[in-house]
Amino acid sequence: MPESVSALPYRIRALELGPMENFVYVIEDVSSGRAAVVDPAWEPEAIVRLAEQRGLEITDLLLTHSHHDHINGIERVLEDAPNARVHLLKPEADFWGGTLTRPQLHHGGDQLVLGDTEIRFLHTPGHTPGSACLHLPAGDDLITGDTLFVFGCGRCDLAGGDPEQMFHTLRDLRTGLPRQTRIHPGHNYAEKPSSTLEEEVQGNPFMHFRDLGRFVHYRMHEHDRTRSSPYGPVPPHEGH
Ligand SMILES: [Fe+2]
Repeated sequence: MPESVSALPYRIRALELGPMENFVYVIEDVSSGRAAVVDPAWEPEAIVRLAEQRGLEITDLLLTHSHHDHINGIERVLEDAPNARVHLLKPEADFWGGTLTRPQLHHGGDQLVLGDTEIRFLHTPGHTPGSACLHLPAGDDLITGDTLFVFGCGRCDLAGGDPEQMFHTLRDLRTGLPRQTRIHPGHNYAEKPSSTLEEEVQGNPFMHFRDLGRFVHYRMHEHDRTRSSPYGPVPPHEGH
C-alpha cells in the first residue's frame, strides 16, 4: 500500500454483496476504531463480521439513497450496533417515507465527523430526489451510490428519477471535484470496481454531453439499448 494512503485517517473497504452486484462500503476511522457502513444490504452478517474482525464499532449507517437493494440490511446491522445512527438526506427521507430508527437527516454540504475522518454529504439528485454522494476530502474519495457508476450512471426512469437533474448533478461533480478523486460506485457494473474522476470525464458517455436535451434522450431512450455491462470506457466524440 502506498505511504500516502496509509497516512490517511481512514480506510475504505468494499464488500460486493447480493444478486445485483451491490457494493457496501465500510469506512474505518483508524484512530478511533469507529466504522460507518454505507448502504447496508444483502448480507448484514458479512458486514458485522468484517467490523468484528477489524475490531471496529459500527457507529453510523450512511445511505446514498433509499432503494431496497441499498437498505435491506439496516435492521439487522442495528441489532448488532444498537447505538448507531442512520444518516440520509432530508429530501430522500421525504421521498421514501420509510420509518427509520434514529434517523439523522442532512442537507447537501453537511459534514459528518467520524473520529478524525470528515465525510461530506453532496446532494446529487437524478436517480432519486435525495440521492447523496459521500465525499472524503482528506483522500479525495467519493462514494457515489447509484448516481455515478464506473463508465455509467444510475437510471432516471424509476419513481423520483429525473434525467435533467442527473445532467446537472454530473456536471457539478465534473467541475466541482479534483480530477484525481477516486470513484466508489454502488454497483459493480463495469470492467473494474473503481476509477478516478478523470477516467470518468474521459470514458463515461454520460460525462460527454454538453447539451441537456441530448443527454436526456440518451439516458432515457438510447443507453440501455446500445450498451451492456460490464461497462468499459467510451471515447468522447463530436456532436454531444
Ligand atoms: Fe438505486
